[in-house]
Parts: sequence; structure tokens; C-alpha cells
Amino acid sequence: MAYPNTRMRRLRASAGLRGLVRETGLRAEQLVLPLFVAQDGAAPASQGALELPALARLSISGALERAGEAAALGLGAVIVFGIPSHKDEEGSGAYDEEGVVQLAVRALKQALPDGPLVVTDVCLCEYTDHGHCGVAREDGTIDNDATLELLARTAVSHARAGADMLAPSDMMDGRVGVLRSELDAEGYADTPILAYSAKFASAFYGPFRDAAGSAPAFGDRRSYQLDPANGAQALREAVLDVGEGADMLMVKPALAYGDLIAAVKRETGLPVAAYNVSGEYAMVRAAAAAGALDEREAVLEILTSLARAGADTIITYHALDAASWLA
Ligand code: PBG
Repeated sequence: MAYPNTRMRRLRASAGLRGLVRETGLRAEQLVLPLFVAQDGAAPASQGALELPALARLSISGALERAGEAAALGLGAVIVFGIPSHKDEEGSGAYDEEGVVQLAVRALKQALPDGPLVVTDVCLCEYTDHGHCGVAREDGTIDNDATLELLARTAVSHARAGADMLAPSDMMDGRVGVLRSELDAEGYADTPILAYSAKFASAFYGPFRDAAGSAPAFGDRRSYQLDPANGAQALREAVLDVGEGADMLMVKPALAYGDLIAAVKRETGLPVAAYNVSGEYAMVRAAAAAGALDEREAVLEILTSLARAGADTIITYHALDAASWLA
């Protein structure tokens, strides 16, 4: 049946009708706030004149304060990134029992036992002096298999500190399986893994790398992160991670990858997290600061579109703002 019997505008005529048939809603409890905890203490984040408050480096007490705000607004989780004062070839700060993430996680779980879940990013790039996500060989290539052991040690130390969920972001082959078996062997069989499965080599990580001081000192990450042109490969990564025991799968970045959020959800049926990354946050902040768009409307539209694409969980630097707007 077509026009004039069918008029799509009938159900758009009032706020009441639009609300009645709205397909997608957003809940604060599905949002995850990134926290950058720095061993050397707090520092604001900016790009030129543009302030990026959600990318600021926090002390542990600053992280507790921000997690407290997250708790008050009902956010589902925080994801903790560490910025160590010392970097070395093997990224030893990543698996140091007294490392910055381990200390921050213990503090968060102690101060806010009923607060947001504490997820940790499991990677070496913030801890290696060369800034790569794995062990670098003499010739500058990244040694997949030598990296796995260090990632597993990192994951186990995060679990021991009390992390509720572990999120490996390194893109080494086989890491989910190795993490799962090491965690099980160490008594953490119930700690879930959120795999950064479809993580692309993206231009949109720039502000994060500035904030975390994790830009690679040589080369780039294209030998381990996905080529943005490859959707079928991204799906294979997701399916392999399911086979290795991932509990949740991530697509990252988010805005240019809605096709993969939908495809990963459809193909695997697992809970899917979309990572609305730092460059995407900076774009919105810059456009809003220039008066080109309304930040609140733009953010809620973006987050709703990610949920509509199939994301169950959304990691976003807008999480505190969005939760306050939804309240
Ligand atoms: C660590 C990691 C990165 C991000 C999350 N985990 C940086 C990278 O891979 O270069 C990026 C997050 C963002 O840009 O918001 N491997």
C-alpha cells in the first residue's frame, strides 16, 4: 500500500507519537567512561586552543573523583588506561603489580565497591619505550608470539588487582585464547574478556596517543591493526575471538564503522561494544566550539546511531555529559 493510503508522516506528527514508536533508546548503564591514570600526576588535555577535558591525565585521587561522578550518573563502567612514569623495551610497567593501573584498580574497587564496573585496557603501547603494542625485534617488526606472554601477565595482574573485565587492545593473533587460559589457570575463570576484535589502524586515535604518550616511535601500527578497507577480515577477527573465548566483542573506531557494528552483532550474537574514539570526540568538540553544531544534540544523535547499528555498550569520552543529559 502506497501514498495516499500510506503516509509515513502520520506517526511523526507529535512528540507523543514519536516517543511511542521510537525504536532505540540510550541508557546511562550502557555507557563506559575512559579514565587516563598517570603515575606522574594530573595534566589537562588540549589540542591547540581546543580543550578535551575527557582526555585529561588524572592522578589516582582524580580518577576516584571522576569515577564517583560516573557512579552518581549511573554509568555502567569505566575503562582504565595507565600512563607510567617509566617506559622500557618490554613494557614492564604493564604487568608490574605496583603499576599505575594495578594501583588505580585497587583504589577504585575499594572506594566504590558498588560503583561502575572497572574494565582495564590490556596493551603494552603505553609502557614500551618504542610505543608499539608488542615486543619489537631488532629489524623493527613486532613479535606476535613473544608478546602474548607479556599480555597474559598484564591481564592476570589486572584481574588480581580486582578488574571486573579485561579488554585486550593489542591486535596480536591468539591473544584472547592465551589470556583466557592463563586467567583460568590463575583462578580468574569468571573474569570476562572484552576483545578489541575489529580494531582498525585509524587516523582517529591521534588525541588519545597525545594524552597517553603512546605514539609509536618508528613505523605505524598497520602490521597488526586492521586495514580500514577490510570488512570481511574484521568479521573473521570477531569470529576467531569468539572461538578463543571472548565474552564481548569491540568495533573501533565507531563512526565510520557502523556496517561492522551491525555485521559483528548479526554474525556472532555476542554483546558488542563500539568505541567512540578520541578523534571522534575531538571532532565534535571542535565543531561545537566553532559554533558549527549543537554539542548535546550531536552527541545524543551519534550515540543513538551506534546503539541503532547494534552496539549494546558504548565507550565514549562523552559518557558523563551524555548521562547527565539523559537523566
Ligand atoms: C591502545 C589503545 C589505543 C586506543 C585504545 N587503546 C591507541 C592505539 O591503538 O593507538 C585508542 C582510543 C582512542 O583513540 O580513543 N592500544
